[in-house]
Amino acid sequence: MKTAPAVLLTINGKSIAVPAGCSVAAALRLADFAGLGVSRRSVTGEPRAPFCGMGICQECRVSIDGARRLACQTRCAAGMQVETS
Ligand code: FES
Repeated sequence: MKTAPAVLLTINGKSIAVPAGCSVAAALRLADFAGLGVSRRSVTGEPRAPFCGMGICQECRVSIDGARRLACQTRCAAGMQVETS
């Protein structure tokens, strides 16, 4: 069985290798922050995580290389720096 090549990126300062072609939302889940793949916090401090996976709910908003992006609509790239809030 052939394995997909890995892409190395950083999530909240921690390096993680994910399969090539993986979305940032999937990478958050693989990194397993709080077990949910948390992308941000609500105004009351509750953890929020990707929900729809198709760019509608906006729950997956993160900062990628300093720009606000949707994790479910962004493919991981080598050296990418992802920050959750
Ligand atoms: S998970 Fe709903 S917009 Fe990304």
